[in-house]
Amino acid sequence: MNILGIETSCDETSASVVNDRREILSNLVLSQLKEHEAFGGVVPEIAARAHMEHLDTLIRAALADAKLTFDDLDGVAATCGPGLIGGVMVGMMAGKAIAAAKNLPFIAVNHLEGHALTPRLTDNIDFPYLLLLISGGHTQILVAEDVGRYRRWGTTLDDAAGECFDKSAKLMGLGYPGGPNLEKMAAKCSDPEKALKRFPLPLPMKGREGCDFSFSGLKTAVRIHVENLAKGDLNPADISDLSFSFQTAMADILADRCTHAIRDFLKQYSTKNPALVISGGVAANGAIRSALQNVVKRHGMKLFAPPLSLCSDNAAMIAWAGLERLQRGMQDNLDTKARPRWPLDPDAAPRQGAGVKA
Ligand code: KG4
Ligand code: ZN
Repeated sequence: MNILGIETSCDETSASVVNDRREILSNLVLSQLKEHEAFGGVVPEIAARAHMEHLDTLIRAALADAKLTFDDLDGVAATCGPGLIGGVMVGMMAGKAIAAAKNLPFIAVNHLEGHALTPRLTDNIDFPYLLLLISGGHTQILVAEDVGRYRRWGTTLDDAAGECFDKSAKLMGLGYPGGPNLEKMAAKCSDPEKALKRFPLPLPMKGREGCDFSFSGLKTAVRIHVENLAKGDLNPADISDLSFSFQTAMADILADRCTHAIRDFLKQYSTKNPALVISGGVAANGAIRSALQNVVKRHGMKLFAPPLSLCSDNAAMIAWAGLERLQRGMQDNLDTKARPRWPLDPDAAPRQGAGVKA
């Protein structure tokens, strides 16, 4: 079974073909970094137009890379939300058009489910598993019970983790996207102990019941440190120290929230190989990966982190989610609507102020 996947929900235009032997036959990702750089963040209208300009070429190239034609496909999966609605519409309509023209099943994929199911593509892991989803738009802890069945145990009450990385990096004068740049600066910190003393930061929600997150206080604390320093330009040593302290705080918060989730998971689910999966762009961060590695080790669990190219937004994860759904007979009508918000767990209690996109 060959499935074409299309992803256009944020600032990556992506097309991919994946088969039921868990092979990624192609996965092309065109990043719009240049288009948004000058604005220090993603501009929805610019993103939608850029998707429209490039998507058809990219789909053709993804098929060529896979050495397939439209006639070799068994279905078309497109992200139908959550995300920036203009971009989502572009990818969804392209997917529907191909499905209609070639009389193929169409699968409307929740972008978050794409992230959630990636470890089944890369590591063939069994349900249920615990999932920490950390990206620019969302920060959630979920239990993945089955395809289409998720329990959301925690979410952010304000900013997403990646957003907090990006905004803090911007405050330090680092370019967009801030996460990777901030990690590079943190790696240059020459005296970690001194850095933590120079730039103490709060750890919002640490030690609290449950698995919710809050990051706006952390970002504000970074702003105050920057303002206290900024008599002239921030020098690179200041930025490295502050980046290191920030990254350490972020890893500490995520480890604490996951520890709570792991305790509950091990109580509520009996599984032979308990696993914590991290996914989303922020899962690329080395300090966060190693903090979580320590946490899972203490609890006899295994950590799965997809390779970096499959952590950030890509269409292979959408094709795979579509494939898993189609295998279970889940397909969608061509009048399916695009959804700017689309929670993975519709029964989760809404959080006040929550929800960047979910
Ligand atoms: O999953 P993703 O590609 O897109 C969304 O769905 O949001 O995640 C992008 C986010 C950005 O906020 C980016 O700064 C962050 O992931 N990110 C990182 C790193 N690489 C990407 N954050 C921290 N450290 C990194 N190495
Ligand atoms: Zn994403």
